[in-house]
Amino acid sequence: MSEEVPAAKKRIGVLISGSGTNLQAILDASAKGDLDAQVAVVISDNEDAYGLERARKAGVPAVWVDRSAYESAHAYNDAIRDVLLEHDVDLVAMAGYMRLLGTEVLLVFRDRVLNIHPALLPAFPGALGIRDAFEYGVKVTGVTVHLADEKFDSGPIIAQEAVEVAEDDTLETLEAKMHQVEHRLYPKALQWMVEGRVSLRGRRTRIKL
Ligand code: GAR
Repeated sequence: MSEEVPAAKKRIGVLISGSGTNLQAILDASAKGDLDAQVAVVISDNEDAYGLERARKAGVPAVWVDRSAYESAHAYNDAIRDVLLEHDVDLVAMAGYMRLLGTEVLLVFRDRVLNIHPALLPAFPGALGIRDAFEYGVKVTGVTVHLADEKFDSGPIIAQEAVEVAEDDTLETLEAKMHQVEHRLYPKALQWMVEGRVSLRGRRTRIKL
């Protein structure tokens, strides 16, 4: 009798710079089976990022790559790429990674690097998407998951979800609502990638139902 060997799970490398609540959502979705993939490594450019601790708690290798140890952005991005390759990563998820990802990584993982941004891109890119939209006075903002390219918050969009700014919202209450949506949307978009449901037509993506 021959037993079927189950297909190996896809391996995700997560890049972070800070608290890592999106990383946590990905780890939780993977543990629950909602995301049929495993986090193979977490990489941070910030030694003190709490996300590194979250990775260790989940038994996932946590790697700090110190930008100041490299003399150029090129060499630093080579190092990031090498860590991802060492851990045999299939997909890369930027989750609050606050640096531009270099071509050194993007060429190897072409169309396999995702980013999450807390605004409805192309509106309010940058490091302060929630605050910028709130201060601008928008009535609707939202969350975007997209493929990364060589620019900040700019690649083809995979998923977006709108979030209303209520009359009595403060920046803090809006942030809480936005994070809830992020934590649901990112694992869902990653699962679409894992299932091979995302295809590209120019800069438009098509999601197979
Ligand atoms: C998230 O809100 C993410 O969308 C944002 O950083 C935060 C990281 O939080 N990313 C960007 O603004 C990218 N331009 P987390 O560390 O708790 O996941």
